Formats: sequence, C-alpha cells, structure tokens
Amino acid sequence: MDTVQNLDELRQRIRNWRNAGEKIALVPTMGALHEGHLSLVRLAREKAARTVVSIFVNPKQFAPNEDFATYPRDEEGDLEKLRGLGTDLVYIPEPGSVYADGFSTTVHVDSVSEGLCAVSRPHFFDGVATVVAKLFTRVQPDIAIFGEKDYQQLLVIRRMADDLDLNVEVLGGRIIREPDGLAMSSRNLYLSEEARKKAAIFPQTLSAIAGDAASGEPLGPLIDRALKTLENAGFGIDYIEVRDGETLRPLETVGDRPARVFGAVVLDGTRLIDNWPVV
Ligand code: PAF
Repeated sequence: MDTVQNLDELRQRIRNWRNAGEKIALVPTMGALHEGHLSLVRLAREKAARTVVSIFVNPKQFAPNEDFATYPRDEEGDLEKLRGLGTDLVYIPEPGSVYADGFSTTVHVDSVSEGLCAVSRPHFFDGVATVVAKLFTRVQPDIAIFGEKDYQQLLVIRRMADDLDLNVEVLGGRIIREPDGLAMSSRNLYLSEEARKKAAIFPQTLSAIAGDAASGEPLGPLIDRALKTLENAGFGIDYIEVRDGETLRPLETVGDRPARVFGAVVLDGTRLIDNWPVV
C-alpha cells in the first residue's frame, strides 16, 4: 500500500493505472476509520481493480462553532486498518494544498441539499460538494463510494457528479451498526459511557417509525410519538422526518415510491444522524 501526499505523485500513479486500463474506485474519508469505512473499502475492492482511500479533515464543512479542531485524527491507526484490506493507495493531501491561498470557488447543489441537515448546518453541503469535486478532479475515479448513514450527502454528491458530467459512478454503501443498532460514526467516540448506552434508543425509534409507516399508519402521529420518546430519554431533536428516498421530497404519507425516515439528534453534546428505509 502506497501513501501519497503530493498531487503530482498522485497523478502519476493514477496515470499508470489508467494506461494499464485499470478501473479505479475512490473512498473519500476524514479518517478516524471504523468498520463502516472499512466496509466501503471492501466494496470498492469488489468493484474496481484499484482502490484509493483519501483522508482529509475538510475545514470547509465545519462551521466555526463545530468540532474541526477536535475531530478525531488517528493517521497511524487508519493506515494500519487500510493495509489489512489491500488498499492500493492512501491519498493524504499536503496541508494547505487543497485550499491554497486565494481559493475562491464553492460548489453548491440545490434541491437535495435543502432541509434536513442543511437547516442546522447551512455551510455543510457546500463544503462537502466543494472538497469532493476537488477529490474527483484529482483522483479521476470511475467509481466513488460513500456511506448511506450520510444519505443526504450521498444524494448531493450524486447530483453534483451528474450535473457536472464528472463521469464518476457514485455508489452508496450500507450502514454498519454496532450490536445495539447505533450506526457507526467517528463521532460516537465523543459519547460518555452513559450516553453511549442510551444512544441505541435513537436507531430503535427510527426503525419503529419505518415499521409502522410501512404498515400504513399516518406519519404525523408516528413522528409525534417518536419525538416524545426521544425527548423523554434526554435527546435534543434536530429533526425527525420521512422523505422520498430518491428526491428527498417531504412526505405526508408513504406511497409506492421508496421512502426513508431521517433523523438527527443531540445526545450529551454530540450530534448523531441516522436513517432507515421504509420497506
Ligand atoms: O463523509 C465524510 O467523511 C465527508 O463528508 C467526506 C465525504 C469525506 C467529505 O469530506
């Protein structure tokens, strides 16, 4: 496994693979890798001859009051995990090379980036779309893989790649959960022992909404009930909504189209997001 920081070196490796006719998959990450990320790398290995994992904690997707400075970083641990999976190349851009002095471009995606996480994190999707556009341009992958836990992010990136003809197939990897159902996330590390135990109530509540919605119960009362359960258990609520699984249009009832329950809560000062398909 090679680790590359320099852009020219990265381009050289990519060129060699392209010349050999090899398909390239990219898994963009911010490091602090857990089983969820590793499952995306395994999927990449199934889909392409070459797998590139990028590690970059992207300042543009954090607001000034958010956790950029304290976001967990563990480069050595990450490299160790990736080595075990047969990753071909880890791209860790040189600090300062991604947003050089004078950097002035923002990629903004309308529609799917409205509502849900954008309400409390209005800067977030522009920051994600901008960095991912840069990573796609640098790595030029055939396939790029993102976790479905950040489902809105996945749809924003897919829309951007289509709209800008980036020629990348954007795939989602399924959510990997802890034994009690909590979706794996680098931010789970922030939870105290007590909060960690309580956190499982969140996915349980989303899955209960999904189950009841699938059996035809009206969504309004279902969501009200879920909000009460979470509030009584000490969660702060950012949003709990049921939306179309492809367009993210808000739904009042579940029809024939795919639907998903989306939630974001705050527990013990830590923001958790998750989603559950209505099937
Ligand atoms: O999901 C993440 O880890 C990040 O938002 C991403 C896609 C790597 C962009 O910085």
